This record gives sequence, structure tokens and C-alpha cells, in this order.
Amino acid sequence: MFDYKYTCLNPIAQVGLDHFSSNIEKTDSVEDADVILVRSAKMHEMQFSDKLVAVARAGAGVNNIPIDKLAEKGVVVFNTPGANANGVKELVICGLLLASRDIIGGVEWVKSELDNPEIDKLVEKQKKKYAGCEIYGKKLGVIGLGAIGQRVADAATALGMEVYGYDPYISIDAAWNLPRSVKHIKDVNDIYRECDYITIHVPALPSTTGMINEEAISLMKTNAVILNFARDILVDETALVKALKEGRIRKYVTDFANMTVADAPNVIITPHIGASTVEAEDNCAVMAVSELTDFLNNGNIKNSVNFPTVDLGECSTACRIAIIHKNVPSVISKFSTIVANENMNISNMTNKSRGDIAYTLIDVEAENSNPLIAKFEELDDVVRVRKVK
Ligand code: MLT
Repeated sequence: MFDYKYTCLNPIAQVGLDHFSSNIEKTDSVEDADVILVRSAKMHEMQFSDKLVAVARAGAGVNNIPIDKLAEKGVVVFNTPGANANGVKELVICGLLLASRDIIGGVEWVKSELDNPEIDKLVEKQKKKYAGCEIYGKKLGVIGLGAIGQRVADAATALGMEVYGYDPYISIDAAWNLPRSVKHIKDVNDIYRECDYITIHVPALPSTTGMINEEAISLMKTNAVILNFARDILVDETALVKALKEGRIRKYVTDFANMTVADAPNVIITPHIGASTVEAEDNCAVMAVSELTDFLNNGNIKNSVNFPTVDLGECSTACRIAIIHKNVPSVISKFSTIVANENMNISNMTNKSRGDIAYTLIDVEAENSNPLIAKFEELDDVVRVRKVK
């Protein structure tokens, strides 16, 4: 007997799906699913059934998901911060090297001459065309020191780069994990002015969209290289292509192919493969499925992008009820009055809020929690009630 159903909008690693508990089965129907797993499918235009309680993104960015609309419907959205960070970091390091030496041009030339019996002689004449520079000793600006940015800063330091880090919202953990030599930059313009290489690792939000704009580009060194393995909308690519054409910027390395950059000079484009490693896909799938399983079976919320973090552990009493409600005064007292009026005892309870939304888990010793659920649902400020156990 299954209690819940999940569906996948993109292929999700089997090693992760194997982590669903035995009461959760797969369905191919989005309408029939209690929870959705997604990687890059665009969900903004989708209709959601009333059955849906959660969406988990196997990845960090959530700009393909309407998180505010889902919060209003009482649907929790999770992501998997850090799970693919090493994979992305490794591609950023690769991007630094590809931008510094014409490795791609050299490989292409060799391919074009493979039928030439003189190739071994030609090589020595040709190779000067593909000469470049080393990254050792160069200045790298890292904008955003979350799981990925922090790893990039660490690896670049180990490769002998002088790293400048900018992140006004850095977590204490991330700060502890940074090498001491990383220069703490308080004004992002100093990154633009000083650095030879600039890599962006911030989420795509209204406040970060287009942050690398004409003005930022105008501050950069003529030889600067910009790396973008976060999201294309962070860069005003029209302004950047203009700067590349005018030779004001040396190279743009981006993981996002689109028509604005497709034909531009000095652009290295990869097809959004930063997180496409076996390890990253497995890690993301395992983390996403663990989050969904804990939410379905215990009501706990970890790594949500639109709900507060809530952990009441496993439920050891007869019933647990999850209530999504507006973050307004006196709702909690209404819940406890309802429980008292039903002559029941609350054995455990937690309440957390995030912006306008709040989430309460209540454990009660009761044979039948249905009367309670019906009464909670009648309250004006309640968005959704779920019988967890
Ligand atoms: C991310 O946001 O972490 C990546 O876009 C993940 C992915 O490639 O699916």
C-alpha cells in the first residue's frame, strides 16, 4: 500500500530515486503526483493539481520554478545546495584554463590536419598560434561565496591565483572554509577594477539580473576574462558582446548557449554542463529525494527556498498534523484552543515563519485526527492542512 506518488519532469539519477521510502511510488502523471522532482524543465507555465505538496529541484538554481506562486498554494519547493558544487567548480577551473590558452583552437587545428603526413613537422611551426598565458599569479575575482564560489576560491588559491572574494551575504561556514589568503572585497567595483578573471556564483534574482552590465564592464581591465557558470541573465550579454567586439574584454566563458552570444568573438560556450557529472547528478538526486521523503513522512522541511526550515524529528505519537498558514498574530493560540476543545493533548509542536508564510507541526495523542483537521481548515488564515501521520 503506497501513501504517496512522485513524478519526475527530467531524468533523475536512479541511485537517488532508490532513496524513496517503500510507501512512495512513481507515477507518470503530473496531476496524480504528490511531489515533483525536476532538473531544468521550465515550470512557470504549468498548472498544478491540488494534490501537489512539494517540488524538489535536483540542483541549486530555482529560476525555472514559480516559487512564490507555489508558496501561495502551500507547495514547498526544495533545492539541493552544494550537492553539485564540486562538479561546477571543476568546470570553472577548466574554463579558466580554456580562456588562458587556445586549447580548443589547437585541438581543432590538429583534427583538421589528421590526414597530413607532415603533421609532426607542421606542429612546431603552428604551435605559436595557440600560445597563451598562465593563471598562476593572476587575480581572480569570485562574486558570490556560496558552496560553488567558495570551492572555486579554494581551488584557484591552490593553483597560485590571487583570489578576491565578494559576498555581502556570506555564511559563517563558507567564511571559515575560505583560504585565509582570499582578499575580502567590500565593494564589488573593486573586483571589476582589479581582477584579470571574474567568475560569478550568485543566484538569479531580480536584484542580481544584469549585474554584469555596461557600467561594470566599463570598469574592467581590457584583458579581463568573465566566467559565467551561474545563469546567463546575470550578465547583460548585449553589452558584453559589444565589449568583446570592440576588444575591451578578452574572453567570455559561459555555460549558457543562446543567440546573443552564439556568434560573438572570443566566447567559449558549453551547453549547461557544469553539474553534469555522475557524482553531481547522484548527489543532487539523493539529497532531493531525502528532502521529499522526510517532508512526506515527517513533515520536516530542510533546504526549502520558499518555506522555513522545520525539524520535529520522527513522529513518535499517534498523529502529526502539518499546517501551512499566514504569518499573522494569534494563529497558534487558535490551533491550541481547537486541540483543547477536542479534549486532546499536544505532545509536541513547532512553528516557524518565513516572510508572509508560516508552518506549524503539531503532534497529538489521538485515535482520529480528522475532526481537528476539519477545524484547522475552517480558519481564515490557514492555507493548507496535511495529515502527516
Ligand atoms: C544548478 O542550478 O545547480 C544547475 O543548473 C544544475 C543543473 O545543471 O541541472
